[in-house]
Amino acid sequence: KETVNIGLIGFGTIGSGVVATLNQNLPLLENKVNKKVNLKRIVDLDITTDRGVEVQPGVLSTSVDDILEDEEIDIVIELVGGYQPALSFILKAMENGKHVVTANKALLAKHWDEIITSAQENNVRVSFEASVGGGIPLLAPVNDGLAANNIETIYGIINGTANYILTKMAAEGLDFDTVLKEAQEMGYAEADPTFDIEGHDTAQKLIILSILGFGVYVEQEKFHVEGITRITPDDIQFARDELGSVVKLLAIAKIEDSELEIRVHPTLVPETHLLASVNDVFNAVYLEGDVVGPVLMYGAGAGMMPTASAVVADCLDIMQDMEKPVAYGPRETRVEKVKDISDVQ
Ligand code: HSE
Repeated sequence: KETVNIGLIGFGTIGSGVVATLNQNLPLLENKVNKKVNLKRIVDLDITTDRGVEVQPGVLSTSVDDILEDEEIDIVIELVGGYQPALSFILKAMENGKHVVTANKALLAKHWDEIITSAQENNVRVSFEASVGGGIPLLAPVNDGLAANNIETIYGIINGTANYILTKMAAEGLDFDTVLKEAQEMGYAEADPTFDIEGHDTAQKLIILSILGFGVYVEQEKFHVEGITRITPDDIQFARDELGSVVKLLAIAKIEDSELEIRVHPTLVPETHLLASVNDVFNAVYLEGDVVGPVLMYGAGAGMMPTASAVVADCLDIMQDMEKPVAYGPRETRVEKVKDISDVQ
């Protein structure tokens, strides 16, 4: 059987989940792709801390060149996070003919064109299912499964940390900082949790969803983004008791007369709406297509194993067709205008 070699850059929470998934389900995975799957190298600055997962001898290294310059490595998983050096690693990997899997929504949302263009020029694939909605298979359905539709609206709860905080504040009346700390301890939050609570992480994911759903790239500076830091337990109680609603941090994108409106902010969701029942770290994206009607995708939106599930699935998808050209090139869009930020505040 042909062997596919994987190099993993970043041995943090999600990286450890990837290793655990490979350890747990290797025969299943190899059977699916009819190839031998070999995690050849793991690179991290810290290779001494025990992550609680078994690693084969000789696999750990502190030198990223052990992956980027190793001709045998076919797929590079980037789980470093942040902008640099993650971007350089990804571009170098692609220049060297390697396929890339990443969960890095911040990077994709900012450097989309550069990354996709590089993948196309180097004839490699780049996959990023884990970047939005953690373990929920979400982007493939939006890009492929709903390809027959004009997407009309997207409403998403796509930050697990913020949703966890809002849920706990509502259920237990706990204060913001206590619950944020809990979310960090569970491995949900970003390295810099202000990305979660100020809405930036949600905005980055919405940018990716809008590219796939509407065919347009909107810079984060061009739309309204507001997080949950000003929400108090009293607000949540008032919404429930007086308005029959729950407070959710929503990503919203909708198209009307060729104009795309896109924004992120805390929203009152009526208790009767499906999104009102999305609690804790769970995420959901509710969208409407002109052919299919409403679709709801729901599942664990953050955390070690759910996110690893999406990363490993991307690797398998690539293994099944290494020659497939990257599917996210420029395409026709109905969007003629993106609503001005001053109209929607
Ligand atoms: N910090 C992110 C969240 C991780 O809480 O949703 C998953 O992207």
